[in-house]
Amino acid sequence: MRKQIAAANWKMNLTVQQAEQLLKDVISADVQPGENQEIVFAVPFPYLDMANNLLAGKSNFSIAAQNVYHKISGAYTGEVSVDMLYSLGIRYCLVGHSERREYFKETNHELAEKINLLLLQQVTPVFCCGEPLDIREAGEQNKHVETQLIESLFLLSSEQIVKIVIAYEPVWAIGSGKTATTQEAQDMHAYIRSVLADKYGKDIADLISILYGGSVKAGNAKELFSSPDVDGGLVGGASLMAQDFIQIIKVLK
Ligand code: PGA
Repeated sequence: MRKQIAAANWKMNLTVQQAEQLLKDVISADVQPGENQEIVFAVPFPYLDMANNLLAGKSNFSIAAQNVYHKISGAYTGEVSVDMLYSLGIRYCLVGHSERREYFKETNHELAEKINLLLLQQVTPVFCCGEPLDIREAGEQNKHVETQLIESLFLLSSEQIVKIVIAYEPVWAIGSGKTATTQEAQDMHAYIRSVLADKYGKDIADLISILYGGSVKAGNAKELFSSPDVDGGLVGGASLMAQDFIQIIKVLK
């Protein structure tokens, strides 16, 4: 069975004290992820080391960066490299969140470079894809997401593609309180898997975890995660409250 993942995306929220307390509240709660489950916290860069140390020795809990630069090293003031993440013990990194695509103009090709560098260092990319509202309204969402997959992932070999996690996040559902219906999520996840299967074969496509993101809450997670192709969630707002995120963890398959 594919790994089932509850990933928190804190974005640019919380002080270090609040962040520490939130992590402590979640890990001290009665949640022991199963062998097949993983709980990931995508935290701001300055908190990576604190968070990773807090989770040390806790199996199936991991820390992720929210971004990484697409060059190995050098004169890029203010940026963070894959080597830096790896040397801190970070083993996951979000790539291509829609906020980065929108506000920082990240392109599919640049994301392909980030993914390549992450995989070279054994850091798992959580590749975010998803369509904005106008594309959904035009009924072009499958084509839009397929292009994102082709341009950012399809240079990868079969050995590499099985090492990534995909997060489908319809842009219109992020932070809007508007969730995709369970059917809309399942349809897109199945489509993504079919695109992967056409390129890499069904056996490989079946190994790749595809998370849903966009207004996942304690109240809707169970139904969303129950779909056969939805392997957990990437959770923004609701991951900032320990009790809500704990509820979401508990309904992972
Ligand atoms: P949201 O954010 O859960 O607040 O909609 C999800 C995300 O952006 O990853």
